[in-house]
Amino acid sequence: MEKAFPDLRNNNSPTQRVGAPPVDSLGKVKHAAPMLSLNAAREEKDVRDFFDFIHRNINKKKIEFVLEPKFDGFSVEVIYENGKFVRGSTRGDGETGEDISKNLRTVRALPLKLQEEKPCPKMLSIRGEVFMTKDGFQKLNKERIEMGKEPFANPRNAAAGTMRQLDPKKVSGKPFDIFFYEIIDIDSESVSFSRHSEMLEQLPSWGLKTASMHKKCASFEDIKRYYDQLAENREDLEYEIDGLVIKLDDYKDRKRLGVRQRSPRWAFAWKFPPREEVTTLEKIVVQVGRTGILTPVALLQPVDVGGVTVSRATLHNEQEVKKKDVRPKDKVRVARAGDVIPEVVERVKEPGKKRENPFSMPKHCPVCSSQIYKEGGYHICPAGLFCPAQVTGGIIHYASRGGLNIQGLGEKTVKALYQKGLVKNIADLYNLEKDDILKLEGFAEKSAGQLYEAIQDSKKPRLDRFLYAIGIRHVGKRVARDLAQEFGSLENLREASEKELQNISEIGPEIAKSVAAFFKQEENKAILKALKKAGVRVKNITPEKKATLKEKTFVFTGSLKGYTREEAKEKVEMRGGRAASSVSSKTDYVVVGKNPGNKREEAKKRGVKIIGEDEFERLLRQG
Ligand code: IVH
Repeated sequence: MEKAFPDLRNNNSPTQRVGAPPVDSLGKVKHAAPMLSLNAAREEKDVRDFFDFIHRNINKKKIEFVLEPKFDGFSVEVIYENGKFVRGSTRGDGETGEDISKNLRTVRALPLKLQEEKPCPKMLSIRGEVFMTKDGFQKLNKERIEMGKEPFANPRNAAAGTMRQLDPKKVSGKPFDIFFYEIIDIDSESVSFSRHSEMLEQLPSWGLKTASMHKKCASFEDIKRYYDQLAENREDLEYEIDGLVIKLDDYKDRKRLGVRQRSPRWAFAWKFPPREEVTTLEKIVVQVGRTGILTPVALLQPVDVGGVTVSRATLHNEQEVKKKDVRPKDKVRVARAGDVIPEVVERVKEPGKKRENPFSMPKHCPVCSSQIYKEGGYHICPAGLFCPAQVTGGIIHYASRGGLNIQGLGEKTVKALYQKGLVKNIADLYNLEKDDILKLEGFAEKSAGQLYEAIQDSKKPRLDRFLYAIGIRHVGKRVARDLAQEFGSLENLREASEKELQNISEIGPEIAKSVAAFFKQEENKAILKALKKAGVRVKNITPEKKATLKEKTFVFTGSLKGYTREEAKEKVEMRGGRAASSVSSKTDYVVVGKNPGNKREEAKKRGVKIIGEDEFERLLRQG
């Protein structure tokens, strides 16, 4: 319609969400008011100094602060006029930034129109942080590597790099989200706030997202408790944070203190320990994964990175090693983000030092000596089940936590079983006797018995777990779940044609092809038959467990009587729903157990439905 009637075209039309045509360069825009930065420190004593400074300069008994997470994303200014999105820009030098309006329009979490629950301001310039979820970041990097492109070092770089793209279509569909936290300028005739906490309360009802975890407090002990709590929860969050921000609540007090050298005196960032360290790279080795892909891995002098000892880090692929030009004995910067595999970020230059020879990928598989071939950015060993690394990799994957979760069957044990000729494929696991396990180094009567039992206990896997565990190419946990729900049984799935598979909305052509091919292959047929013979019975997904909770998002808080958090999550996911770790505008239900946390308050604030365990069980039963 917009093509036929260009007059109707409008910058905030849904067609802009998928990306406007590319531009030659990003225009410059002056911010409504300077975008300041924060004074920051890691040491508690410096935070204490800030706290004392405020108390010396504000003459009140009780001074209130607002504590917020410090999002590790990309800072933007967003402007609304009469409730409509008009412009968004990067921080730039704080005075002037780059116009990224077209890119921001593709971010679904950013409203193009404010909801007018309260009068909307005529002009609102607001600051927020655009970020990529950890999951989205990993997926994006995987795609980049597959295309032979350089992966991003962390979600922040990914967000910044993508947001400054000249082609909005390349931004559209990327896993972005945004939180808002500070007003830069507002026309105060229509709306005015006297406190930061008041402002944060208002934003969601305009449709502007805030992080659920902000908290008001007055004592230093409370600040410290929040810091410890946040540091502990850091790994569980869906996005990266790198500390907390302490802000004066009262806007009058803020004004009194003012700004010094581009940082407000009324706010302070307490940063977490760094997740990057410098160490020596000792050696580059090449690993062969279960899919045959060769990955160069850096063996490092062990170093503590934000509380975890790191002694190996991935270098992704040959191109990466070349690009970063890392060689044995170099000093390198190593980073770790959440539970993501540590990686070598860059080489630390040491002028004048004599260096070793550059690395190159082997021409033959380091495990089975087969000749390597290249596909995209990857080097691949073609030997499949004839390559011991791929065989053991497949068995390790089968037994892993996300697979059939066979306790005690880790990498070391699998390799030992393989070397002794006791296990050549996953079906052989079930023919193992306790005495076989006893032959392995490090096993005694009791531990051998336990491993034997754990293997026997894995004979009745649920269909989705089994589909993931057997390692079909392109079938991750999510796809395994979709396939299980759609087909209900292994037999049904095995019979499905490529075309039938493609007809499922969640399954793309590549996955369909790979699944159909898997069940056609003779070796796989033989292994499935052997598993059956060994007594493995895959549990079907019964019709009542079909997608009765499709598209519903649950958040859990407090402890439930009947289930662990993990089990409750699984129940929801088995019915097509989603379990998230924080309350957002997308949450449908917050399930409250014993001793709930502040997610319950958050749900109340956002008007999200709050239910107890009984109601949750009723939802699980319906259908
Ligand atoms: S307030 C005038 N609050 O941290 C105060 N900043 O310099 C302006 N950041 O680039 C900042 N989370 O982008 C504030 N909750 C939060 C924040 C936050 C992340 C970023 C901000 C800035 C950097 C520190």
